[in-house]
Amino acid sequence: MTLFPEHGLSRSEIEAALDAASVDHDALRGGPASFSLEVDEDLQGVILHAFGRFLTHNAVFGESLPSLSTMEAELIAMAVEILRGGPEATGFVTLGGSESIFTALHGARTRARSRGHGPVYEVVCPETIHPAFAKACHYLGLDLVAIPPGEDLRADVAAMERACGPATIAMCGSAPQWPHHRFDEIGALAAVAVEKDLWFHVDACVGGYLAPFVAEAGWPIPDFDFSVPGVCSLSADLHKWGYAAKPASTVLFASEELAEFAKAPAVDWDCGVYVTPSVAGTRPGASLAAAWSVLRYLGRDGFVELARRTMTVRDRLVDGIDAIDGMSSRSTDLAMVIYGSDTLDTMAVGDAMEAKGWLVMRLIAPTPQLQLLVDRLSDEFVDAFLVDLEAAVAEVAAGRRSPEMQRASAY
Ligand SMILES: Cc1ncc(COP(=O)(O)O)c(C=O)c1O
Repeated sequence: MTLFPEHGLSRSEIEAALDAASVDHDALRGGPASFSLEVDEDLQGVILHAFGRFLTHNAVFGESLPSLSTMEAELIAMAVEILRGGPEATGFVTLGGSESIFTALHGARTRARSRGHGPVYEVVCPETIHPAFAKACHYLGLDLVAIPPGEDLRADVAAMERACGPATIAMCGSAPQWPHHRFDEIGALAAVAVEKDLWFHVDACVGGYLAPFVAEAGWPIPDFDFSVPGVCSLSADLHKWGYAAKPASTVLFASEELAEFAKAPAVDWDCGVYVTPSVAGTRPGASLAAAWSVLRYLGRDGFVELARRTMTVRDRLVDGIDAIDGMSSRSTDLAMVIYGSDTLDTMAVGDAMEAKGWLVMRLIAPTPQLQLLVDRLSDEFVDAFLVDLEAAVAEVAAGRRSPEMQRASAY
């Protein structure tokens, strides 16, 4: 029997298979599965409607599908407004954070080349920067100079400044980085870049569509966007805290001139001139239309309200974890809870939580810690997590293995 059926299956057979296949995902608790997409049934409905309407649309045909081009332009205009770009700021919709980062670094390289730079191109980043930077550097022939962060796990600005030499073309910082969920000092890094005439990129894939609203809701957020002088480009993922369906991200530039450096070259071929902004050829109209719809549906007050709820849940989780004997949390700037134990085996606590059905993300450096993304907003979610964590800690402290753990390790 082969997997590819000789005769197609029925729709109901396929739907049953899909329902069965999604069970393990639905059962997982916590983790970056949804970025709160489930918070509002109407929001999900808006996204599904956009997918239904634009299922077959392809943004590669820009001018032949004016409604989609208009949506992309409006999406970028909204992104620029949220991230406080000036009248010159612009950008493109991409398939994800990695493509946005690639596109920005491509811009940095093209600008450097246009100035006669070469043959070595260095990009100075904190070590905590997302692996997408190492990938982009690999593809683009750039050398990534990764500098260990300071004790506070934020970029070591002085060390990054010292690392810049004649081969450096760009500096980067995160807003915030994923591992420790802390903002680098974007203002200080950008000032160094201005002084050295370097391209400065802000990776706000995580914070771009959450941090501005968290700030409005009253939690402290340092300036990280185009209001900071010297920021040339910024990556911000719609498919994270923009509550959009995957794949959807934005890469933004402080000016049209900088965006021009980042664009893929136009190519002459038998069908005329082939023009795409970035790596992707085909881009799904459905996720672009869905992202546009979500921004319009929620509006500023909707985003601020979700940010307030998200951070309130984070603070409740932090207080609850700190109240459990043997556990403590480590401060983060956004919607991630990082927790561990100085007295118990933190990874064993993680194993015990996994056995209880939680998606446990793990940090191995500088010390073992566990991560929980705050992407569920109900009191039941918080209560269930804390009850299970207390039980997991007790099991590890007693050196006991729960029946769930025994079952889990039997596989
Ligand atoms: C800070 C940061 N930058 C970039 C990325 C890459 O985004 P993507 O997975 O959409 O390519 C991620 C992904 O989690 C991230 O956390």
